[in-house]
Amino acid sequence: MKNLYKFILLLLVPLFLFSCGGGEEQTAEKGTPSLSKSDEQLLQTAADKLIMKFHNNLKMELGKALKEGGPANAINVCSEIAPEIADSFSANGWKIKRVSDKNRNPNNHPTPAQMAFLELFAADSTRGLKHASNYDGEIFHYYKPIHTNSLCLTCHGDKDNLAPEVVEKLNERYPDDKATGYDVNQLRGMFVVDIKMPEGKHYAEEIAGSES
Ligand code: HEC
Repeated sequence: MKNLYKFILLLLVPLFLFSCGGGEEQTAEKGTPSLSKSDEQLLQTAADKLIMKFHNNLKMELGKALKEGGPANAINVCSEIAPEIADSFSANGWKIKRVSDKNRNPNNHPTPAQMAFLELFAADSTRGLKHASNYDGEIFHYYKPIHTNSLCLTCHGDKDNLAPEVVEKLNERYPDDKATGYDVNQLRGMFVVDIKMPEGKHYAEEIAGSES
């Protein structure tokens, strides 16, 4: 008897959902901003390209600085160059940066909304999730995870294993540093690209159409 009730209830639930849903869905649609599929595709392609450029520029500068003056010198370069590169790419309605819940620079602390996406990447142990995005009716937010490799550990590894001059430099520049204690292949943070619409679309077309 109990099962029969359950069965009837199960049949009724979708009915209720459908019957009450109609009106609500309409208002929800009005309130829920959306982008056309082609615009979304364009913004994703362009954001991916810009992230790649940002990443390559940083890697190049980091490599150069390491070669020229070792890791302590590279920290100087990193702390000045990283925000500079980010700024130089942030124009025409676009903003790019890196954030981490264990941030070194206090400016790289994630907002609660960004934290939700960072947690999504952290929970994805198989790394199937390559990127994520959402649109709030004004800004298209694009996120891409950043993982560590062995090079990163020179400055983000266990504090006990860091070179003394690196520790000294970090203490001097980043008294609230949370970005040590990492191993290889861990989620270090994520790239965040914020694109203001509609003005950011022109820049997206420019980037997407350019040679990489
Ligand atoms: C030479 C030292 C050094 C190396 C090597 C290094 N980093 Fe960093 N990293 C820094 C410094 C310094 C900052 C702070 C930059 C700033 O002030 O914006 C930083 C910041 C970051 C941030 C921004 C979030 C935060 O913590 O402020 C991410 C993400 C990051 N590093 C990832 C990496 C990854 C991934 C690697 C390896 C591919 C790497 N880093 C290698 C020194 C280094």
